[in-house]
Amino acid sequence: MCGIVGIVGQAPVAPLIVDALKRLEYRGYDSAGVATLDKGKLDRRRAEGKLVNLERRLGDDPLGGTIGIGHTRWATHGVPNEANAHPHFAEDVAVVHNGIIENFSELRDELKADGVVFSSQTDTEVVAHLVARELKNGASAQDAAFEALKRLRGAFALAIMFRGEEDLIVGARNGPPLAVGHGDGEMYLGSDAIALAPFTNAITYLEDGDWVAVRRGGMEIFDMAGQPVERARQQSVGTSLLVDKGNHRHFMEKEIHEQPEMISHTLAHYLDFAGGTVADFALPFDFAKIERLAISACGTAYLAGLIGKYWLERYARLPVDIDIASEFRYREMPLPDNSAALFISQSGETADTLASLRYCRGEGIPITAIVNVRESTIARESDGIFPTLAGPEIGVASTKAFTCQLSVLAALTLKAAKARGTISAEEEKALVRQLSEAPRYASQALKLSSGIEKVARELSHVRHVLYLGRDTNYPLALEGALKLKEISYIHAEGYAAGELKHGPIALIDEQMPVIVIAPHDRIFEKTVSNMQEVAARGGRIVLVTDEKGARNATLDTLETIVLPDVPEFVAPIVYALPIQMLAYHTAVIMGTDVDQPRNLAKSVTVE
Ligand code: AGP
Repeated sequence: MCGIVGIVGQAPVAPLIVDALKRLEYRGYDSAGVATLDKGKLDRRRAEGKLVNLERRLGDDPLGGTIGIGHTRWATHGVPNEANAHPHFAEDVAVVHNGIIENFSELRDELKADGVVFSSQTDTEVVAHLVARELKNGASAQDAAFEALKRLRGAFALAIMFRGEEDLIVGARNGPPLAVGHGDGEMYLGSDAIALAPFTNAITYLEDGDWVAVRRGGMEIFDMAGQPVERARQQSVGTSLLVDKGNHRHFMEKEIHEQPEMISHTLAHYLDFAGGTVADFALPFDFAKIERLAISACGTAYLAGLIGKYWLERYARLPVDIDIASEFRYREMPLPDNSAALFISQSGETADTLASLRYCRGEGIPITAIVNVRESTIARESDGIFPTLAGPEIGVASTKAFTCQLSVLAALTLKAAKARGTISAEEEKALVRQLSEAPRYASQALKLSSGIEKVARELSHVRHVLYLGRDTNYPLALEGALKLKEISYIHAEGYAAGELKHGPIALIDEQMPVIVIAPHDRIFEKTVSNMQEVAARGGRIVLVTDEKGARNATLDTLETIVLPDVPEFVAPIVYALPIQMLAYHTAVIMGTDVDQPRNLAKSVTVE
């Protein structure tokens, strides 16, 4: 996902823009650039790779000017090189863009027919040329931008600057988020509040279809009919977003270790530990009256939802339909009136999840969301939100957000079970007490690093890994495989252990370690049988279990990672930590970019 920054300021803006772009690095990128307007001259510096390369370019050849725009690019159209890096120019216009212009080919052809010569492979460049053409036809800068915006189809957040306009940046939003920051005699544009945190926490979020003229004295927001619109100015949590790694090597390591605290904060928001009950938090529907719950999300958030499905169906007897959002949004799932929808998203900006939410909005059912960013688009478009109190998650690989999503889902399960009368007051108290112990169990799991690092050294030599689990350990097997592949680049697959004989067992040999997630629960023996089938074919097993499981799994393993005995209801939250740590240590040994793995973005705001 690309990052956008714009400043109409009082001081030289180039270094400020680069600092703001650094706060957007977590989104993932492969090139960057800055453009400023200085004494009537529009100029830019761009560089492939990390921001340090852009800083070097600026050090060698500085940019002056108190107005500028900057960009970190996650390539969609065109290879990640300097020529395709933003800002893109066309005569008197500079543009930075996050998203995809879906009709860029026809616009490109139209402009070429007008004699325009393109210098990049990007969709963004057509925006610059469209604005330039309107200027040439005599439009003012603001009107030229508006006319160009009306031609665009697709997802875009834009910032546009004009030679000759020392006090104007035009921003626009259709899909990917864009925020306006309010300063003292300065104004800012940014992809999110994190980028603007060093300048201000007075933020206005643009809505889809908004475009804004930003000047040192303030802003004017318009809709696509050209009518002025009002948008709330709010105090962002920007100051608390000034995050750093502390004494950890990576944000991911820090965020793995923050989990006991963040799980505790999140559970405390939904449970009355002293009273042993689920708290009386609001819902936009009554669990007792709905007959189905549709859950949709992407990636790790989807896997949290999958565990939530097991819990809601088992403890609250509530049927759950769950699907990955990229499928859900096009499946046209029938949603009867007495159903509700729940979306799960750390960033609250994932395009497929947002599109699925809007599908459900069109079906007229109540919409809720579990989000980590309360000011996000998904949060704003929901009838009710259940925040995870995980704090900013910077590492691209989701860790603390996942266990906090599980914490919220566990609390919602108790809420639903209580409302549907499927658990007694005593059972509620027992389950609340079990959840109250989750942070302590998680702290104990963090102490398992040495055994996990030993396994990581083994995994660093292989090209394929299989993860197995049953019941709620099956989504954990999927999550373990996702974590490993996304940060270490080792191919990994998660499978339901019971599926082994239906195909995957053909893969088993001594070259492919098998990670088995199996606390000693009521189906443990079934999983032991699967492990024996693996061992009988020379497979090397890493067993993740508890003391009782370790005693009862009578077979040789490459390593057995022994967690504390935890109640079945809490196990998925606790067992997430060793699988995160295993992926983390393996990636560190592999020397990959743990916090910003290749090709990945922290939030995928385009399809
Ligand atoms: C998780 O480690 C991945 N980075 C990715 O699968 C992520 O969970 C997915 O893109 C969903 O993001 P969201 O929670 O912000 O919607």
